[in-house]
Amino acid sequence: MLPINLFLALGGASVVTAANSWIVPGSPWMSTSNTKIDAHGGMVYKRGDTFYWIGQAASHSVQPYMYTSKNLLDWTPASNPQNSIQWMWRPKIAKPNGSFWIYGQVDRNVQALKSDTITGGYSIAGSKVTLPPSGYTYSDTGMFMDDDETWYLLTSADHNTVQINRINSDGAIGSRVNYLAKGAYEAPGMFKVNGIYYLIVSGKTGWRSNPNSMFWASSISGSWNGPYGIAPEAQKTYNSQNTFELTIKGSQKTTYIYMGDSWDSKGGPDSNFVWLPMNVDTGNKKVTLEYHAQWKIDVNTGVVSYPSVKRRYEAEDAQIVGRAAVADCAHCLSKRGVHEITSDSAVTFHNVTGLGGRQWVQFHYRQSREAGEAHVFVNDEPAVNISSLNHRAGYHDIVPIELNLREGAVNKITFGTTGRNARAVLDGIELVED
Ligand SMILES: *[C@@H]1O[C@H](CO)[C@@H](O)[C@H](O)[C@H]1NC(C)=O
Ligand SMILES: *[C@@H]1O[C@H](CO)[C@@H](O)[C@H](O)[C@H]1NC(C)=O
Ligand SMILES: *[C@@H]1O[C@H](CO)[C@@H](O)[C@H](O)[C@H]1NC(C)=O
Repeated sequence: MLPINLFLALGGASVVTAANSWIVPGSPWMSTSNTKIDAHGGMVYKRGDTFYWIGQAASHSVQPYMYTSKNLLDWTPASNPQNSIQWMWRPKIAKPNGSFWIYGQVDRNVQALKSDTITGGYSIAGSKVTLPPSGYTYSDTGMFMDDDETWYLLTSADHNTVQINRINSDGAIGSRVNYLAKGAYEAPGMFKVNGIYYLIVSGKTGWRSNPNSMFWASSISGSWNGPYGIAPEAQKTYNSQNTFELTIKGSQKTTYIYMGDSWDSKGGPDSNFVWLPMNVDTGNKKVTLEYHAQWKIDVNTGVVSYPSVKRRYEAEDAQIVGRAAVADCAHCLSKRGVHEITSDSAVTFHNVTGLGGRQWVQFHYRQSREAGEAHVFVNDEPAVNISSLNHRAGYHDIVPIELNLREGAVNKITFGTTGRNARAVLDGIELVED
C-alpha cells in the first residue's frame, strides 16, 4: 500500500513501478514492489555484487526485514528472516563464522538469530543475553567489521556507556574491547579510514533528531578523541539519527556513506531515511556529511553524482494570488523571490514542461520550522503536504518531491501554505530531467 498522500501525488490509479533514479534523503523510498521500504535502525551488508539491507519493520511489529539491491537505488523485498521474533530493535547482520547471524535488541538484551543462508531460515540462537563484562542492558545496536574480518557489536549500553564487544567465532558476544563514557549517547556506528576508527553517535532525544557527534581513535581499543559535530548544528544531522556507515570501495574511489533514520513522531511506518556521502579529511580526522538533496553512487567506481539537467522556473514569474508579493531575496538564485506566502496565498506555475510520468521537482523555498505546512498541487489534483513527501520540508532550501506530470508544456503546479502562522519565501522550482 502506498501512503495515501503519495498515492494522490502520483496521480491516483496511474501508479507504475519505475526504477529509482536518485537517493533522496528524507523522502519515502519505494521498493521494486512499490511498497515503502520499512527497514529502520538497520545496516547494509555486501556479498558478491549484492547489497543486503536489514532493518526493523515498523509496520510488522518491529520484526527484522531484508531487501536486496545491486545498485543501492532499487531494493527488492527479500524476506522476513525470522517471523516469530517481534519488537527486535535495530537488527544488524554479521558473519563471524560460516553462518549468518542477526543481532538485535529485545527487551534491552541482545537476541541472536542464525542461518546458513543470508536472506532466510534463521533460527533463534540461544537466549537473550546482557553485555559482558558488567551485564549491562542496552538500547541501540551497531555493527562493525574490521579489515581482519573480526566483527564487533556496538551498543549504547545503559549507565551512559557506548560499548564495543567482539563477536566470537561461535557467534557469542565476547569481551568488551572499548567503551565511551563521555556523555549520554546512543545509535552508534563505526567505520575505518587509513587505520583510524571513526565512531558516530547521536544524543538521546527519543524520536526527535539531534546533532550527532563524531569520536575517533587510532585503534579499536584506543582512547577516544572528540566529540565534534558532523553537520551544521541547527540541521540536527539533516533531521536524522545515525544507524550505520557503509563503505563502497570502487575502482576509482572509496566512498563512505552515512545511513540515518528520519523518524516520524513515534518511530512508525512514516519514518524515512537520510543517506548521505561523507567527506573525510584524513589529515585532520575531520568527517562531515556532504548534504545533497538528491544523489547516487556508481557502486562499481565509487563515484557520487547529482542531477545535472534541470529546467528552472522562477517564482517571481509565476501567477501570485493573495497577500504574497515579489521582493528582493538575498538567498534566492535570481535575487528575487515571492515573500509572505501565507495560507491565503498561492503561487502557480503554468505551462510547466514535464517528461510524462513520475518526475522529481525541487522546490526551493524557506519556511519557519514550526509554523504550518507547505503544500503543492498539480493539474487540479488534491493538495498534498510537502512534509508528507519529504521529511526535510520546511527547513531546507531545496526540497525534492516526486510528482506525476504530463508530457509537454501543459502542467500547472501550485505552491501554498496551510496553518495560522504559516509563512514561506519561494525562490523557484526545478524539474530534474536526468
Ligand atoms: C557457527 O557457530 C555456531 C555456534 O557455535 C554453530 O552452530 C554453527 O554451526 C557455526 N557455523 C558454521 C558454518 O561453522
Ligand atoms: C499556456 O500555454 C497556452 C497555450 O500555448 C497559452 O494559451 C497560455 O497563455 C499559456 N499560459 C500562460 C500563463 O503562460
Ligand atoms: C496538512 O497540514 C495541515 C497543517 O498542519 C493539516 O491541518 C492537515 O491535516 C494536513 N493534511 C494532511 C492530508 O495531512
